Amino acid sequence: MTRPPFPAGRAAVIAGVGGYVPPTVVTNNDLVARLDTSDEWIRTRTGIVSRHVVTPGTATSDLAVEAGRRALKSAEDSQVDAVVLATTTPDRPCPATAPAVATRLGLSGVPAFDVAAVCTGFLYALAVGAGFLACGLADRVLVIASDAFTTIIDPADRSTAVIFADGAGAVVLRAGSADEPGALGSVVLGSDGELSDLITVPAGGSRQRSAGTPPQPGDEFFHMNGRATYRHAVERMTAASLRSLATAGWRLEDVDRFAAHQANARILGAVAERLGIGPERQLTNIEHVGNTGGASIPLLLAQSVADGSLAAGHRLLLTAFGGGLAWGAATLTWPEF
Ligand code: UT7
Repeated sequence: MTRPPFPAGRAAVIAGVGGYVPPTVVTNNDLVARLDTSDEWIRTRTGIVSRHVVTPGTATSDLAVEAGRRALKSAEDSQVDAVVLATTTPDRPCPATAPAVATRLGLSGVPAFDVAAVCTGFLYALAVGAGFLACGLADRVLVIASDAFTTIIDPADRSTAVIFADGAGAVVLRAGSADEPGALGSVVLGSDGELSDLITVPAGGSRQRSAGTPPQPGDEFFHMNGRATYRHAVERMTAASLRSLATAGWRLEDVDRFAAHQANARILGAVAERLGIGPERQLTNIEHVGNTGGASIPLLLAQSVADGSLAAGHRLLLTAFGGGLAWGAATLTWPEF
C-alpha cells in the first residue's frame, strides 16, 4: 500500500466501538468448588463476582472477529485500510493472529499485525493505529484487543485464576481533525523492562528455548507477582493519567468519565481516589467480566455505551497498566455515532 507520507493535521477519530465476551460464565462459587478460595475473598480483594471464559475450540481470533464485526457495524463500515490486534494470547506463537482475523472480517489484503503490550495492549494499538492515520498510511483502521487469558492461566493458581478472564473489544479509527469529538487527544505511553519479571509466561520463547534445558512444570502458564504488580499499577496509572491530562490541558474536574484497565476493583479505587475522581465518574464492568487483559478498556467502552453510562460529549480519560512493565493513558471526547 502506497500513500503520501505525513499529511499535516490528520487526527485519529473514533468512529465505532464493539465488544464481545464468550457466553460461558464462571461464578466465584464455581471457582470455590475447585480452588482454596472463597466468594468473599474474591469479592472483597478483587471486586469480581463472575467472568466469561472461552470453552474448548474457541481462541483469541474468534473473540477478535466478533468484537471487530461489532465495531465495524457501529461505524457503519465494512472496509478499513489496516487491522491492528493487541493480544497476549495469540492463536499461535507464529504467525501473528491479525491477518486471520482480517481475512475472516472480509478485509483480506490489508496490512494486519499484532501488538504485544499485555494489559496496556489496547492503548499501544490505538497509538499505532493513530500513527497509521497521521502519516497517511491509512484513512480507516480497525483496532482490536482480544485475550483468551484463561488459556494461559494455571487453573490451580488461585492468585491468577480468580482474576483473569476472556473477552475482546474494538474501535474503528478514521482520519479527522483534532478539534472534532472522538479525536484522540494526548496519548502517554511508557515501559520499564527492569521489572519484566513481575509478569511472565516463562516458557515458549527464545530465552527458554535457547537455554538448552527443558521448561519446568508450570512454566507454560502466566505468572504474576500480584502484590508488587498491584503497587506499580496504582503508581503508574495515576502518574500516566496526570501526564495525559497535563498534555491535553485538562484539569481533573474536566474529566466526565474515567475508564481504567479493569485489573482489580481495589486498584481502580486507589487510582481514582488519588486522582480525586468519584464513583459517579468511573466506568466499571469488572464485577461481571473480570480482568480481560488488553481487551478490558475497549470492552468497557462498548458496554458503557450500551448501558448509557458513556455518551456523546463525555470527556474521557483512559489508563492502563500491565506486564512489560507497560502503561499508558489517553484523553478524548466521546463522539456521536
Ligand atoms: O492486569 C494487569 C496486571 N495485574 C494486576 O494489576 C493485578 C495486581 N494484583 C492484584 O490484583 C492482587 O495482588 C491479587 C488479587 C492478585 C492478590 O490480592 P492481594 O490482596 O494483593 O493478596 P496477596 O497476594 O497480598 O495475598 C494475601 C493473602 C495471601 O495469604 P497469606 O500469605 O497472607 O497467608 C495469599 O496466599 O491472600 C492469599 N490469597 C488468596 N486467598 C484466598 C491469594 N489469592 C487468594 C485467593 N483466595 N484466590
